[in-house]
Parts: sequence; C-alpha cells; structure tokens
Amino acid sequence: MTKLLLRALAGETLPVPPIWMMRQAGRYLPEYRATRAEAGDFLSLCYNPELAAEVTLQPIRRYGFDAAILFADILLVPQALGADLWFVTGEGPRLSTITSAADFDALKPAGAIHETLAPIYETVRILSRELPAETALIGFAGAPWTVATYMIAGRGTPDQGPAHALKAENRALFEALIDRITEATIDYLSKQVEAGAEVVKIFDSWAGSLEGEDFDRYALEPAKRIISELKARHPGLPVIAFPREAGERYIGFAKATGADCVALDNSVSPEWAAEHVQVDGCVQGNLDPKHMVTGGQALVDATRRVVEAFRGGPHIFNLGHGITPDADPENVQLMIDTVRRV
Ligand code: CP3
Repeated sequence: MTKLLLRALAGETLPVPPIWMMRQAGRYLPEYRATRAEAGDFLSLCYNPELAAEVTLQPIRRYGFDAAILFADILLVPQALGADLWFVTGEGPRLSTITSAADFDALKPAGAIHETLAPIYETVRILSRELPAETALIGFAGAPWTVATYMIAGRGTPDQGPAHALKAENRALFEALIDRITEATIDYLSKQVEAGAEVVKIFDSWAGSLEGEDFDRYALEPAKRIISELKARHPGLPVIAFPREAGERYIGFAKATGADCVALDNSVSPEWAAEHVQVDGCVQGNLDPKHMVTGGQALVDATRRVVEAFRGGPHIFNLGHGITPDADPENVQLMIDTVRRV
C-alpha cells in the first residue's frame, strides 16, 4: 500500500502528512470557473461525468494533492429521492421542503436513487482510470442530519431551526426522514466504492447544532449504521467522518462509529485534538480556511502549528472547512510547500 492517504488512514505515522483540501475543486480556481461555464451551471457540471472528472483532476494537476475528492454535492441525494433542487447564484441551494407526512410519502424509496445518480458513478469510474497512481480517490455523501436540515428547510439555515422544529413537533416523521436518507446514503456510497472510490467521507456539516442525546441519536447513530453496513459490504474500506463543530463530542467519535479517521474543523485547537482525539487514531485537519485568503507569514506559522501538533500520530493535513471562492491559488501552494518542508 503505497498511497500516503491510505497509509495514514491505516494508522501509520508519516514523516510528512498527506494533503488535500475540502472544496479543492472550486471557484477559487480559474480553470474550474471555465469548466463550469462550459457545463452551463453547477448541477449540469455535477451530472456531466467527463467535465466533473475534469474539475476533480484540476487541483491534482496544479498542486499534486495526495487525494482527489469526487466532484459532486451532498444535495444530489435529496434530488435523487425526488426533491426539487436548484442553486441561486450568490445565495446557495434551494429545495422543495419536507414538512408533512404527505411531503415525505412523495419521496422515492432509497433503492430508486441510482437512476438519477448513475452519472456520478461514471465520474468515479473515469477518475479511477485517470488519476495518477499515487493519488487516492475519495467518494463522499452528506450525513443524514445535515442532508435532512436542507430537505426540511428547503435551503441552508444559520441555526437549522426548521429541522429542530420538525424534530420537536413530529419526531416520527423526522426519524422516518433520517432513516430514508441513511438507507440512500449507504446505497449511494456503496455504488461509489464499486465504481472505484478507495475511501469515503461523510460530511455532517451541522452536527454541532445537535446537543446531548440528539447528538447520539442523529449524528453518531446514523454514522455508525452507515459505516458498519459499508464495511460489511466492502471489508477494509476506510471511512472519514466529519461531525463539524462537534467540540468535546469529537472525543471517542471514531471509536463509537467505527470511523477510521475523524475530520476536525478549526474551532478546536490542534494541540487539544492531538491529546484527546488523535489518541484513538488518524485525524484530518484543521487549518483555518481564512489563511487561503490572507496568506503571508501567518499562513506559514499556522500551517506549521497544525503539522507540529499532529506529528506524533497518524494525520491527514486539510483545512477545517472548505476553501472559499475568494482564496488566492498561490496561498494554497505556499501551504503545501510549508507542510512538505517543515
Ligand atoms: O470538496 C470538493 O471539492 C468536492 C465537491 C463538494 C462540493 N460540495 C462541491 C460544491 C463537496 C464535498 C461538497 C459538500 C457539501 N455541499 C457540503 C458539506 C461540506 C460543507 O461545506 O460543509 C454542503 C453543506 C453542501 C451543500 C452546498 N453545495 C452548499 C451550501 C452550496 C452553496 C454554498 C457555496 O459554497 O456556494 C453548494 C455549492 C457547491 N458545492 C459548490 C461546489 C464547488 C459551489 C457551486 C458553484 O460552483 O457555484
């Protein structure tokens, strides 16, 4: 096993950590903007296997990252379940909402998602042929809670209020939705693995708004179910879990869910995470993405601090969240050079 990312995920402490970035294929790259224009819009790009593979490869060619992440979106699963989905430029995603039993009953069964998602599996097949031999291919999906927050509200929300409200008012309906997304996610990720994904990552971007027992029931339990089913179907498959802003709940999350690696956001310090989370195995993270905008010595210092903090155990270098459209591509190169030379 020579790919650095797979070695770190297997628990190896490496002299230089493998590197990739959340949203590494994205609007901060002029070549991404050009390909998106060629596709027409973001969703057309996601469903065009040749062009989606092309944008996935762009940051690999430019920077030589150790991993490529499939170009797609977590909201394709709701769309495949029958929700309407569109993106409003400058604002973000919009979906038809799920607020009643009638809305839920109109959704398709989990097994029906592949008709819509077939082009995504084709993108994975193209990538597994075309990626350099040293580059690992990461597939992904949203975690059920995060996907549910968008399906219930019909958009991104600052506090996930509508999803918390449905959970309080109609727990049976809320849980039925979580279960449907969980089943669809297992099938979706399983097909990505069959098509050539070597690692999968589960994005729970809004895990931080679940408290107490709700965190266990709707962040931890669904992750555990998805991971155990995937590992039963694909023995040895490495899984990265990202319960963003989980704070103290990062502790023990990998053990409790069976994840091989926990991705850390930048609200936790790398020193704290090394002591409390990396003790259980591989961690990924967690440079503040703002450094990709501001650059300079502060970027170099913060990058070194992350590398130093996690040097004693298995680590995948990444940002604490996605790179933003206003980032400077040269700062990404400076970050990589700093990681590989410290
Ligand atoms: O990381 C990658 O390069 C792989 C592709 C990827 C995208 N979205 C492409 C994308 C991945 C892994 C995602 C995950 C995703 N999508 C998450 C979880 C991670 C996170 O950021 O917390 C979430 C919550 C979404 C939903 C989503 N997609 C939102 C809220 C938005 C709009 C906000 C924004 O950044 O514009 C998107 C759009 C989106 N997904 C873009 C990209 C490159 C920008 C679309 C464009 O080109 O206009």
